[in-house]
Amino acid sequence: MQLTTTTINIFAPTTIVIFGVTGDLAKKKLIPALWNLYKNNHLPKNFAIVGFARSEWSDEGLQDYMKGILREGGLHVDDEADQINFFKKVSLVNGDFTTLEAYTSLLAKVEAIDNAIGMCGDKIFHLAVPPSLYEVIFDHLHTSGLSDLCSGVGGWTRILVEKPFGDNWDSAQKLDQKLGSLFKEEQIFRVDHYMSKEVMQNILAFRFANSLFEHMWDTRFIEAVNIRLWEKSGINGRGAFYDKNGALRDVGQNHVLQMLSFIAMEDPGIMEPKKIRAARTKVLDALRVITPDDMIRRVRRGQYNGYLDEKDVPQDSKTETFFKIEAFVDNERWKDVPFTLESGKGMLENKTEIEIIFKGKTFCLLLPDQEVLCPQNKLIFNIQPHEGISVTFWSKKPGFGTVLEPKTMSFEYGEAKGAIPDAYERVIYDCIVGDQTLFTSTEEVLSSWKFITPILDNFDKVPLDKYTTNQG
Ligand code: BG6
Repeated sequence: MQLTTTTINIFAPTTIVIFGVTGDLAKKKLIPALWNLYKNNHLPKNFAIVGFARSEWSDEGLQDYMKGILREGGLHVDDEADQINFFKKVSLVNGDFTTLEAYTSLLAKVEAIDNAIGMCGDKIFHLAVPPSLYEVIFDHLHTSGLSDLCSGVGGWTRILVEKPFGDNWDSAQKLDQKLGSLFKEEQIFRVDHYMSKEVMQNILAFRFANSLFEHMWDTRFIEAVNIRLWEKSGINGRGAFYDKNGALRDVGQNHVLQMLSFIAMEDPGIMEPKKIRAARTKVLDALRVITPDDMIRRVRRGQYNGYLDEKDVPQDSKTETFFKIEAFVDNERWKDVPFTLESGKGMLENKTEIEIIFKGKTFCLLLPDQEVLCPQNKLIFNIQPHEGISVTFWSKKPGFGTVLEPKTMSFEYGEAKGAIPDAYERVIYDCIVGDQTLFTSTEEVLSSWKFITPILDNFDKVPLDKYTTNQG
């Protein structure tokens, strides 16, 4: 099942401007994603990529940089046709994001591309920059006229904004108001790339296309939900960004809460972006706010040993690299079901999963002599690295006695794994086709901050536990 049926308008010329093209996100995700989209014919025929950065490279300098990244990633970039069709469409505008002159040069560049094709084409601005720069970028996009290209006639303009969006409820609201004064909601694509991961979308297919579990999807049958986003690596040299944000802002307010919203949302009735986003918002809105008195009981935080030695991290930093929260969704469906939300860097393994634990039957026919509850069933959505879905059930061990043993039925992607697009391919593709299903709405941003902000405000009520990583 596809979430949408929208396909790319292959003939609409599109210019993709990447703010921060020499940065970490562009290097790791955006450049490979653009290349793969191009190779799989998922970019419009007539596209242009404009890198926008401080670096004083020439166009060729950026092209070579991109080739290097792709080669390092094992991608073959040396066909002559590709050199012409992809890299020749890549150019660089250099400038400081905080000065208006840089935007004048950018405007001249995108207008020159339009002039060459003889029409005002579609434009995407992808802000792959630290969130602290958003405000000044929004201001300059407006003043330079870049937010109002084609004057409403001809191609559209869309903006891709990365998380974290704001650093608490107040700042998110202010930022959102500013963004909303420049662009209409249908032009704004707030990225949470977790929603674009294949298994996340499969949660919706699994829940709403099957009758198997959906009638049991509530407090009568479900005992607990555990959401884990564990990463083996540390902060990978991102000290300056990470220390200001911490795990809860970095992945809790967004990726982890979106995992919860996919699991806990009501059936949207129709696979339509507005309905799906509204269903997600409703769940986030129903999250019970954690009071200062509840902090000790429901929240834990930690910092891995060695974090203080990371580059750009102050010696006395109290930033958390791990959190664990017991959350409740205050509605009839989820009454009293604990949702444990947990994420950490420097964990023992890489594992992102959602575990649904079903209640055991109160009387166990097969184990009548033992005073035990019937064993419980588990359903696990393995988001990564071993994408799939599995169910644990109990089976009779072969033989004369009645001994139960746990077994697993699982779905893995197998050969189809190669067909799974990287989340960022989906992000860029969906932005080009204008499908906002897998992007965060303004309401979702505010609802998630409504839950997270009080925790951040009272974090110091909870001890910062040190933990050992596997980093050596
Ligand atoms: C990013 C966070 O949003 O998500 C990173 O900023 C984190 O700290 C990353 O490592 C995890 O994404 P993925 O796709 O690698 O699981």
